[in-house]
Amino acid sequence: MEKLVIHGGNRLTGEVEISGAKNAAVAIIPATLLAQDVCRIENIPNISDVVTMMHILSSMGAVVHYINKHTIEVDTKPVNSYIVPHEMTKKLRASYYLIGALLGRFNRAKVSLPGGCNFGVRPIDLHIKGFELLGATANVENAMIVASADHLTGSSVYMDKVSVGATINVMLAAVKARGLTIIENAAKEPHIVDLANFLNAMGADVRGAGTDVIKIRGVTHLHGCTYSIIPDQIEAGTYMVAAAATKGDVLVKNVIPKHLESISAKLVECGAQVIEYDDAVRVRCDGPLKRCNLKTMPHPGFPTDMQPQMSVILSIANGTSLVSEGVWDNRFRYVDQLIRMGANVQVDGTIAVFQGVEELTGAPVRADDLRAGAAMIIAGLVARGTTEIEDIIYIDRGYEDYVEKLRDLGADIYRKDFRDDTAQPAAG
Ligand code: EPZ
Repeated sequence: MEKLVIHGGNRLTGEVEISGAKNAAVAIIPATLLAQDVCRIENIPNISDVVTMMHILSSMGAVVHYINKHTIEVDTKPVNSYIVPHEMTKKLRASYYLIGALLGRFNRAKVSLPGGCNFGVRPIDLHIKGFELLGATANVENAMIVASADHLTGSSVYMDKVSVGATINVMLAAVKARGLTIIENAAKEPHIVDLANFLNAMGADVRGAGTDVIKIRGVTHLHGCTYSIIPDQIEAGTYMVAAAATKGDVLVKNVIPKHLESISAKLVECGAQVIEYDDAVRVRCDGPLKRCNLKTMPHPGFPTDMQPQMSVILSIANGTSLVSEGVWDNRFRYVDQLIRMGANVQVDGTIAVFQGVEELTGAPVRADDLRAGAAMIIAGLVARGTTEIEDIIYIDRGYEDYVEKLRDLGADIYRKDFRDDTAQPAAG
């Protein structure tokens, strides 16, 4: 078992390259099932969620070929099963995208309920509502979602709540349904647009992605394609926050600045400077960190997946900040770990009040989930003394080569093998 060891106090300076978007990749890979052909996907992030999803497809009979670390070719022609067992889906919440893709391919799907991050109730009622409106029966039996249809027919699907996953799953099921599907109150995240562009590259007819109304006209055949995944908005935001928190000066490269607008705005409000270029942003901070209020919302609001990271800045900013979690009902579990490092925080349901403290102090902590783990790294970077972080398997799910990238920026961070106490500074 590995853990991270961080000696805090170093300013982050230099340049960091952002990888492909995790939440786009875990939707696009299952979408390859809709074309019985070869798809070449470029700029794919080298993270364990992607490896898991590729492993699932291989176990279903797909031929997966890694051209290089960030390019794969997937041939789903040989896939002849619509069943995905528990041992495959338990590690990855996004495995439920296989239901929409398998329904779209076989009119059948039998997928074990997903695993993944646990921060409150994660229902799938909107996914099931969408499948049923398209003409499928969908039920949970023996902890598996079982869905089937004679054929899928386009329909109007109103999302009672903005849901990334339900929007994606309905898109996957609808691209080969008969007729027109209209998704209303659709999610507008960058990875929704990326999936729509990928589906259209395969010959689908998806319009309006990025707005709250997506129209999908079903087609009978989808073909292979070559597609490059967008940069990861949340990875980029995480390095932006780390740069500001450590009073550093970092050029975050290979990004789409428009995807980062809400994060840039909040960092400026907290006293950082953010300079935008065509495909990069520079974040620097040489003055005191200021308090601000934060409310997470679906895109284009401030991303919920940036809430823990931003809260580290608020825990050491001058003054009192209020954080309102507008998406998940229990996404403050990480606060207990921040309090171990000296943060002064009160949590009441979906609201947290941060009283900024002079400094955080290093401590043994754990990563409660992927983004909480990222927040603990930022806390360790700014804390006085040494921080050790356990359960870093969560962080490995969504951040490519983060130890190497942070060391290149001047962080004193390395992986340590839990079994023995010999510290192993990361390569490079
Ligand atoms: C996706 O999760 C992301 N995961 C999450 O990122 C992200 O936090 C979330 O979207 C919001 O942006 C992936 O893309 C793999 P939702 P998802 O459906 O699709 C409620 C990360 O760190 N809801 O948009 O599961 C739900 O309870 C991960 O990369 C229903 O009520 O989120 C929540 O309150 C963590 N019924 C809200 O909608 C449903 O059927 C938004 O959830 C589905 C969702």
